[in-house]
Amino acid sequence: MNRRIDKSVLSRRTVDEITGGRRMRRNRAADWTRRLVQENSLTVNDLIWPIFLIPGNNRSEDIKAMPGVQRLTPDLAVKQAEKAAKLGIPAIATFPNIALELRDDTGSHVLAADNLINEATRLIKKEIPDIGVITDVALDPFTSHGHDGILRDGIIVNDETVAQLAEAAVLQAEAGADIIAPSDMMDGRIGAIRDALDTNGFSDVGIMSYATKYASSFFGPYREAIGTDGLLKGDKRTYYIDPANSDEAVRDAALDVEEGADMLMVKPGLPYLDIIWRLKEAFEMPTFAYQVSGEYSMIKAAAANGWIDGERAMLESLLAFKRAGCDGILTYFAGEAAQILEQRRL
Ligand code: PBG
Repeated sequence: MNRRIDKSVLSRRTVDEITGGRRMRRNRAADWTRRLVQENSLTVNDLIWPIFLIPGNNRSEDIKAMPGVQRLTPDLAVKQAEKAAKLGIPAIATFPNIALELRDDTGSHVLAADNLINEATRLIKKEIPDIGVITDVALDPFTSHGHDGILRDGIIVNDETVAQLAEAAVLQAEAGADIIAPSDMMDGRIGAIRDALDTNGFSDVGIMSYATKYASSFFGPYREAIGTDGLLKGDKRTYYIDPANSDEAVRDAALDVEEGADMLMVKPGLPYLDIIWRLKEAFEMPTFAYQVSGEYSMIKAAAANGWIDGERAMLESLLAFKRAGCDGILTYFAGEAAQILEQRRL
């Protein structure tokens, strides 16, 4: 039986009486006024392009869980950096897939001056000197267990890991890295890396701290990309932040700021926009989001199924980071987004 609706109640007041004549839709009525009142915008200057590395020459490999993203040998990484530079993307960030036989319990190969990440940095800086190179200093690509630290008796040992990361950071700086980005979440690593860089003559090399990195399920596809998916035992909850917490993230970021971070990053991105907002408000630091592999793959998968408009979802997600207070975004969409932004300007 249909409910009988009292129409006299519905029309008790006119819309003008309700709104007092304030009509939000005026500003939305035409393209020109929408453009005039637009508060945030995405430009190519907001983008950082992560690049996956494999050893060898002139070879690329598809990453199944990340359609459109490939692992590249250093010479092809140079080509990608060149493409990025041509598009106006300010910086790239490199992540190595290290040969399995070079991985061990302590991730010792991170201390090889000519390891894959350093080899690629040297080549990219030589060929494309004007693009910023951000290197990830972390042990997980180098350990046989896929953890970001040295594992002893089932525990990721903090201080020993920090010492090793500081040494690795100096080697990365020596190879030409402009910004060191520690993604391990060990305590004290920002201060230790700053000291190591300064005392070794690299006071001009910056630190982008993965200040608040969450114990997230959205890193899944990345682990296929760097080959830690079959290796990782357990999870990273003893060093990454609990997704339930935000005050803790602010306190952790405060330490990184005190220890000398030049830039802060929140990772993953879209599920943590509130954290981006809080960090920007609290510290007024250059603040970045890492739109991680799982975020990328979800949009790609839904688009491939015809469930969403992939291009619009990509641009909307990137704009959301700007609205939340980001100065920039690490995103696997960087190349695609930059191309679209360029076409719009032409
Ligand atoms: C770990 C690291 C991770 C990512 C980059 N470096 C997380 C992890 O594997 O636990 C994730 C990046 C992504 O998902 O796109 N040092």
